[in-house]
Amino acid sequence: MEEQAKKTIFSGIQPSGSLTIGNYIGALRNFALLQDDYNCLYCVVDMHAITVRQEPAVLRRRCLEVAATYIACGLDPKKNIIYCQSHVSGHAELMWILNCFTYMGELSRMTQYKDKCAKHADNINAGLFTYPSLMAADILLYQADLVPIGIDQRQHLELTRDIAQRFNGVYGDVFTIPEAYLGKVGSKVMSLQDPTRKMSKSDPEECYIAILDDPDAIRRKLKRAVTDSDGEIRFDPEGKPGVSNLLSIIAALSGETIEKTVEGLQGQGYGALKERATECVLETLTPIQAEHKRLMADKAYLQGILADNAERANAIALKTLRKVQRKVGFAERVKK
Ligand code: TRP
Repeated sequence: MEEQAKKTIFSGIQPSGSLTIGNYIGALRNFALLQDDYNCLYCVVDMHAITVRQEPAVLRRRCLEVAATYIACGLDPKKNIIYCQSHVSGHAELMWILNCFTYMGELSRMTQYKDKCAKHADNINAGLFTYPSLMAADILLYQADLVPIGIDQRQHLELTRDIAQRFNGVYGDVFTIPEAYLGKVGSKVMSLQDPTRKMSKSDPEECYIAILDDPDAIRRKLKRAVTDSDGEIRFDPEGKPGVSNLLSIIAALSGETIEKTVEGLQGQGYGALKERATECVLETLTPIQAEHKRLMADKAYLQGILADNAERANAIALKTLRKVQRKVGFAERVKK
């Protein structure tokens, strides 16, 4: 397909905490299927991350780790643009302009802002408040058509659309109005300890499997995964959430249907179910971890990829930014 005819997908990833097999099954592994048909940007949002306090050395490492994880999961950094937000100054510049088209009332209503204020009462900073306008800048800078997001980011995307429409209403069609990307829905992975809730990296360790967990941790966590007491392997997310979650994980990673998975385990106990799950998780994660390790060991190579990709992102970003600056009436930049 012609580059021009392809739609643009933009995704922002927080460099905080660890990515889980939930992220892998629900999102990451599907991204590799998009790389030929869409122009995809995966931005490590380090500027968003500092809205809460970060340890500088940890943040620096995590940015590289997230980028390496994406590449290790099969995203080709030549086909996709995988880069750090702070490396492309247009994000901050467009954000300022969008801030002037965003109302205090809109930002005050954001549920994530209210949650974060409650959680970080000692550091309710202006960045936390204007977080959604930076997110809008991320998306609009690249004229993204589609944004893969979880339900928790829906409100921010709605606001992005409102800001873009407001701006377009004044200055003409400057921004593409983005939509949520709901792609091929990978099965939702639930917490190992409370299988009625989604697996989340912000829950305690034993609730999730990180993509970078070592084999011992994976074995231990799956062994301790919550099941139930009737002892029968059957797929019933309502009545048997723990067992069904393990079955979904096996099916998703092995490529078998749920029915086949259940059939294969007929007459066996939960021990066998957990062992099969462990096998599938290890089989999937071992090569990813090896590639991740290889990338992290050659930091210069990885940083080179990020530099190249930031340059590619910047070239796209500047087109939008210059147009926006002209529209709002900033003085022209003449070449000397
Ligand atoms: N706010 C998003 C999150 O917490 C991360 C993010 C930042 C993002 N900018 C984005 C997601 C742009 C999609 C598009 O998950």
